[in-house]
Amino acid sequence: MSETFLTAPVDDRSARDLAASGLRLALVDTADSAAFDAWIAADFRGFHSERPTPEVLEEARGFLADRRTTAVYDDPATSPVGTVNSWVAPLTVPGGEQVGAWAISSVTVAPTHRRRGIATALLGSELRTADRLGVPLAILTVSESVIYGRWGFGPATFAGEWRVDTKRVRWAGADTPGRLAFTEPDEYRATATAVLDRVMAGRPGEIALSPYLAERLIGPLKGSEDPNRYRLVRYDSVDGEPEGFVSYIVKGNDDFTKHSVEVVYLAAATDAALLALWRFLLELDLVAEVRAYTRGVDEPLPALVSDVRGAKLASVEDHLWVRILDVPAALTARRYERDGELVLDVIDDLGFAAGRFRLRVADGAATVEATDAEADVSLPIASLGSVYLGHATAPGLALAGRITGDADALDRLFRTATPPRLSTWF
Ligand SMILES: CC(C)(COP(=O)(O)OP(=O)(O)OC[C@H]1O[C@@H](n2cnc3c(N)ncnc32)[C@H](O)[C@@H]1OP(=O)(O)O)[C@@H](O)C(=O)NCCC(=O)NCCS
Repeated sequence: MSETFLTAPVDDRSARDLAASGLRLALVDTADSAAFDAWIAADFRGFHSERPTPEVLEEARGFLADRRTTAVYDDPATSPVGTVNSWVAPLTVPGGEQVGAWAISSVTVAPTHRRRGIATALLGSELRTADRLGVPLAILTVSESVIYGRWGFGPATFAGEWRVDTKRVRWAGADTPGRLAFTEPDEYRATATAVLDRVMAGRPGEIALSPYLAERLIGPLKGSEDPNRYRLVRYDSVDGEPEGFVSYIVKGNDDFTKHSVEVVYLAAATDAALLALWRFLLELDLVAEVRAYTRGVDEPLPALVSDVRGAKLASVEDHLWVRILDVPAALTARRYERDGELVLDVIDDLGFAAGRFRLRVADGAATVEATDAEADVSLPIASLGSVYLGHATAPGLALAGRITGDADALDRLFRTATPPRLSTWF
């Protein structure tokens, strides 16, 4: 049987590097609940979360068992001092293709063992394993933005936090026919999952969700804060087609007329669903503010309200980071909105993707071949990751010296009219 992301052994080089400092790199058998619980608890501790209860551990074991789960041990202690997990996630790229991307999560190092090269060994192991299995790119979402550039990741999508002062605005969008109804996760789960599949396939930057990632958007996981405050509202089109939902929490304060709403997730597979669900949120009575996180920077809210300043993009942050491992495979997987030709000189200090490539785009489809012709553009692999999904990052990177040569031509070729978006964490 050929190797898969689950069965491939740990990377030799990382295992050797760690062994030289008395540490052991190993895959965790997720069927061994004691070992898996210790790994999950170490992951929670790494992110400063509460100690997981037996109930939380049981749920997490069920949800996370299908990931490649790696630990670093300082034997004989059974609690890992380093954790990471990974799986191959279908990433939507411009043009709508879903490309298998090596998704990396749960990178933690015990504070007792920091800055001893454990993260370096874990990331090296992930990237070399992905590369060996022929996966063309790796992706992650980050808690700190300073960590992953050194491994060739570049920020490729940006996420906005929106705040709406609902006392200040009235609905100024189009009519919202269709039907809204409260529902419960247990009765709606299968439909919600189908809606999420459409949402994730419909926008570059989104990834198809595992049951765990979907579940977090539909309802509270075990151990969530305020699980009884979650509300779930579905939207069905005029024809009765399920096209969206919103999960949210209402929080109170001293003034009963000024609750605030935190949107857990707004899923809209169609424009009609997007309109109806935003309208629902903005017209909730006894609410003064609606907050939504991890939305696109192009969320159309300002156009949907009577007072543009009542709907604010409160912050914009880097969100999905992309690390290209195979330039020809990655660049031919996406489509382009303009035709053109460029010779790219790609620099990769880690050696995965370096080379000079001629990219030719005709009728939106690319061909890529190695060349020794003079380069039009020269850029480190992290910058190629940043422009890959279509976000307009090239001008800034050129100003900063992280793209040299004809950055305008690169921008024209890679940029998409609609910016990419990833609307969840993983
Ligand atoms: C981030 C984290 C994984 C780093 O682990 P680590 O084993 O200490 O990292 P390493 O020893 O391999 O360091 C690799 C390099 O990254 C740098 N680095 C690591 N963490 C950094 C941080 N938070 N800020 C800035 N630089 C950092 C190190 O200084 C080192 O640089 P050098 O190669 O120039 O010396 C660890 O601090 C951690 O678990 N943090 C909490 C969880 C977290 O934030 N995870 C990231 C989730 S996306």
